[in-house]
Amino acid sequence: MPNKIDVEIEEKRKSYPINIDSDNVENLKNKILKDFNFSKYLVVISEKVYKLYGKQLGFSKDDLFILKDGEIQKNIKNYQKILQCCEKKGLNRKSAIIAVGGGVVGDIAGFVAATFMRGMNFIQVPTTLLACVDSSVGGKVAIDTEYGKNLVGTFYQPNAVYINLNFINTLDERQYKSGLAEVVKYAFIEKSCEARFDYGLYDFLSVHYQKILDRDLRFLEKIIKVCIELKISVVTKDEKEAGLRKILNFGHTYGHALEKITNYKTFTHGEAVAYGIHFIFNYAHKLKLIDANYKELAVVLMHKFGFFDKTFKYPIEKLIEIMKKDKKADDENIKVILPTMKGYVKEDILNINEVLLKSDF
Ligand SMILES: NC(=O)c1ccc[n+]([C@@H]2O[C@H](COP(=O)([O-])OP(=O)(O)OC[C@H]3O[C@@H](n4cnc5c(N)ncnc54)[C@H](O)[C@@H]3O)[C@@H](O)[C@H]2O)c1
Repeated sequence: MPNKIDVEIEEKRKSYPINIDSDNVENLKNKILKDFNFSKYLVVISEKVYKLYGKQLGFSKDDLFILKDGEIQKNIKNYQKILQCCEKKGLNRKSAIIAVGGGVVGDIAGFVAATFMRGMNFIQVPTTLLACVDSSVGGKVAIDTEYGKNLVGTFYQPNAVYINLNFINTLDERQYKSGLAEVVKYAFIEKSCEARFDYGLYDFLSVHYQKILDRDLRFLEKIIKVCIELKISVVTKDEKEAGLRKILNFGHTYGHALEKITNYKTFTHGEAVAYGIHFIFNYAHKLKLIDANYKELAVVLMHKFGFFDKTFKYPIEKLIEIMKKDKKADDENIKVILPTMKGYVKEDILNINEVLLKSDF
């Protein structure tokens, strides 16, 4: 017998449909069960979404795990509780986890689906704008730990995503804008996403921002589709973030540090990302990595959506320490996604000395 055996495993490619409509929410359950015919399933649903849509959705109470709201719920205790629920219900690999809610529900429910019995079926029903344009697609699932956000997780693609635009109507203004921050992010990274088409997202947002702020369904549908196309273009080329996928973290390194320093209580994810985008544009401009015109274009678009630049009382030294612990960092360096030209970004190392020197960061 040789004492070295090579194992070659062909990565299983899983394709899945993303359904987008504004059908009656009452039809959703039947649609999913008609498409998949699961005999057993557990619906993980956010408390707020349950209060708003529980009746219309029509799932039996026995099939529900109601998750309290907030980022702090994406924790190991709730992960264990959902696992226990799966065990009590006798779920198996052929069963499904159906996540109904925002990114918090999608992330934790997806992590359960990925790990219970080493993987079961997983359906995403995103109900926030952020989850529609970003977190429900691409297969990142995770929980937070005391050391940081999304520190325990994996990549696990859903069997299908059901986007119903009606859910967006009941989002409060803050949560809606939180989703818009991820939409605006796509405008700044679009050209680096290597998509099949040039969607001109920056210009589209710039012209139609009022319709979008007014939640006009036609415009909403368009931006959701474009963001998903861009995300798919990236994640199909680099599912596990070995290279290209890192561009999706534009604005996130600083944003995650802001969320962490405030114990996830002060900013929504999108708000933190918006400040992260401002930070990185300021940085790139100060270090002359982009010209003043592009910085101005970025600021104008951010302002149109109500994302204003702001300096914080949180000391930059502390934020830098947190950024050093980011998953994307190595021992010494903080890796960031930098804007280079309109719609283009690249990965680079943050010049910590420059950040510390320029007191207004
Ligand atoms: N997996 C990924 O690729 C990925 C990408 C981006 C963000 N995320 C994660 O997503 C999370 C943020 O997601 P989020 O912004 O959706 O926040 P969230 O899930 O906390 O939802 C925000 C709030 O909106 C409420 N809500 C949800 N749907 C509603 C509706 N239709 N009407 C009224 N209220 C509703 C929720 O109950 C919650 O209180 C973070 O944990 C972030 O790390 C994951």
